[in-house]
Amino acid sequence: MKLLAATTNPGKLREIRRILQPLGYEVIEPPEKIHVEESGFTFLENAYIKAKAYYEHFSMPALADDSGLVVDALGGYPGVYSSRFYSIDFGGREELKGSKDDANLRKLLRLMEGKENRSASFVAFVVLYMGGKGFFSRGECKGVIAEQPKGEGGFGYDPIFIPEGFSRTMAELSPEEKDGISHRGKALRALSELLKKCEL
Ligand code: IMP
Repeated sequence: MKLLAATTNPGKLREIRRILQPLGYEVIEPPEKIHVEESGFTFLENAYIKAKAYYEHFSMPALADDSGLVVDALGGYPGVYSSRFYSIDFGGREELKGSKDDANLRKLLRLMEGKENRSASFVAFVVLYMGGKGFFSRGECKGVIAEQPKGEGGFGYDPIFIPEGFSRTMAELSPEEKDGISHRGKALRALSELLKKCEL
């Protein structure tokens, strides 16, 4: 089955391909960028909005991932604001020196200074939209926020997230290790099971 990835995030695209290809899906990169207003207040709403917009624009089954880091000591932030956390009012804006990922990490570590409770989760909702219907699933990976960034792999908040059962950050894991435990790996494998049950 051919699926259009409803994302322009290279880190997500790489992982969606890596996880779905062995399960028999061909994941296509969007031929052009389209602007989609992520106006939802939840991961599920935003994933649905993106999948439907890509389906309608490119006329093929579209798969969206909306995901982020949910930090208990910050009342669930950055959550749906994960990709632009540095720029929102919550906790004060962070100056954009270098990449957005770096600014997001700096802000998160600043807000976590002195916090005893460092527990957090990566959460992903994936939606496949086709033929007027949306199919969704959710995945979660629990862990803690590290004191400082470590590792070169992955993307986003990976260098400051230590998954449960590991003493290394997500950015220090191999791609296979990350996919085996990640929110995205769990959500996509569950979606694949759902599609099989629906005989799609
Ligand atoms: P979205 O494109 O609105 O879904 O934003 C997702 C954001 O959440 C990314 O830009 C990252 O900052 C963060 N994120 C999601 N998944 C991961 C992951 O697997 N590792 C690290 N950061 C992630």
